[in-house]
Amino acid sequence: MNRLAVIGHPVAHSLSPAMHTAAFAALGLGDEWSYEAIDIEPERFAAGVRELTERGFAGVNVTVPHKQAAFELADLRSDAVAAIGAANTLTFAGGSIRADNTDASGLIAALPPDFDPAGAEALVLGAGGSARAAAWALDRAGARVTIANRTESKAVDLARELGTYALEGVGPDEPIDLTHFDLLVNCTSVGLAKEGAPRSEPGADLKAMRLRADQLIAPLVVVDLVYGSEPTELAVTCTSGGATLIDGLEILVRQGADSFRIWVGREPPIETMRDAIRANR
Ligand code: ATR
Repeated sequence: MNRLAVIGHPVAHSLSPAMHTAAFAALGLGDEWSYEAIDIEPERFAAGVRELTERGFAGVNVTVPHKQAAFELADLRSDAVAAIGAANTLTFAGGSIRADNTDASGLIAALPPDFDPAGAEALVLGAGGSARAAAWALDRAGARVTIANRTESKAVDLARELGTYALEGVGPDEPIDLTHFDLLVNCTSVGLAKEGAPRSEPGADLKAMRLRADQLIAPLVVVDLVYGSEPTELAVTCTSGGATLIDGLEILVRQGADSFRIWVGREPPIETMRDAIRANR
């Protein structure tokens, strides 16, 4: 049996086991491959991963808060991992740990088939780890990337480091003008439902992102990395306004599909993976 897992802290609610298990079953690989969720505390990350290699695991997906630690632990790093400084996919082979970042490749794979990122004007909202992966991936795919963030200085620093642009001089209560952008990627945590917390007031999430509902229209493509049991306000507004929406669940499917290709070496059943995610959300 080739064992795989997603490791995180917390990780119990991860949709990845259901998605990969369904994919193995669909390809008749259920007796050869398995995928589970394993909680590893940050202090035990390196020791925990070593243990998995010793127990014969084939690889792992790595999620919050371990993506940077995964970068550090790896013996071999893909270009994306080296540039982003974070990894979400580890492969154990021949005693070494290889790191890939399918958050980056998955974002590009999730774009609509008729949308060419090369030459597109892309706005990345946020300046944390996921914004870094998105901005790097889009820049690499040939887009002209602008980074906008609530704390402007972080956008400026990230843009300088990646060689992209930063949005400057737009105040906290001023909407960002989207008219010349082809693609918007939400990499902020706005819209992320916190357990036990009441839902935000209507309009509050868009306001925090400095977006105007009347600009979320065709032909704009919007990627929202945030997902939960309910659609986000950004997702709902795009759907009603006419912008093309790629939601966080689709991004999860695409990063999973790219990890699957790396480990299994076969074409993943994307439809099956998508259905499994949507059934378990
Ligand atoms: P990740 O690792 O997922 O990228 P992160 O590093 O915590 O997450 O980054 C969260 C991003 O969401 C940041 O860009 C943050 O903006 P600041 O740098 O100003 O903190 C952004 N963010 C979080 N809450 C926000 C809010 N209420 N309004 C606007 N931006 C917000």
